[in-house]
Amino acid sequence: MKNNSSYRLYGRTKGRKNKINNQFLEISLKEIDKNKYNILDIGSGYGESTIKLAKVDKQKVVICCDKYIDGLNNLYNQAKLELLDNIYIYQGNVHQLLDQHCKIDFISEVWILFPDPWPKKKHFKRRLINHDFFIKINKFLKSGATINIASDSKSYISQILRIIHQIRNDFKWLNQNKLEWDYDPVTLPETKYYKKALKNGLNPFYAKLKKL
Ligand SMILES: C[S@@+](CC[C@H](N)C(=O)[O-])C[C@H]1O[C@@H](n2cnc3c(N)ncnc32)[C@H](O)[C@@H]1O
Repeated sequence: MKNNSSYRLYGRTKGRKNKINNQFLEISLKEIDKNKYNILDIGSGYGESTIKLAKVDKQKVVICCDKYIDGLNNLYNQAKLELLDNIYIYQGNVHQLLDQHCKIDFISEVWILFPDPWPKKKHFKRRLINHDFFIKINKFLKSGATINIASDSKSYISQILRIIHQIRNDFKWLNQNKLEWDYDPVTLPETKYYKKALKNGLNPFYAKLKKL
């Protein structure tokens, strides 16, 4: 098994407040019922997507994962305010969450909204979404599970499209028609990075895949 240092993440961990709300759950996914509808929100940022997903159906469980402490604090406070008790917070790298805590055949839905684009070519290898990531997460998905991805980075979108093609035997791309690629803020979470994309005049790409 890998040691903790091999799950190091690039980018920010702490924000200006620089302190963690010590009430975060050191989650044990063992506590979560495998038969429940379990949603994994990867890179939850300030938590808008986690909150929206948790409110849609309170019978569903939303596990969010990020290392950014200010964002997780914000999410925790919002969840408390809205009396949402179907959210589990994991502070750390999703690879560690999957490798060390997750069960096979456990996840019903995955969200990866605006993953860090790492625009410089020499940093592409830091990107979360690659072929190996799909191979890994596939084991933890229930049959028929969906994966929702959004990005506003042209080079990342090209990479995602290439991977969608490579994994076509394992995942069906539900919105293949180009007219369905736009990110619809009515049905999809209006996250901080979605708003940032709009402000910068970018047209975010959205893809929905289904495990075959
Ligand atoms: C660009 S932000 C997007 C946040 C949010 N989804 C949004 O749309 O506003 C990407 C987030 O993913 C987190 N992140 C990056 N790699 C991660 C990983 N391997 N595991 C968990 N979180 C990760 C970062 O800390 C950051 O908060």
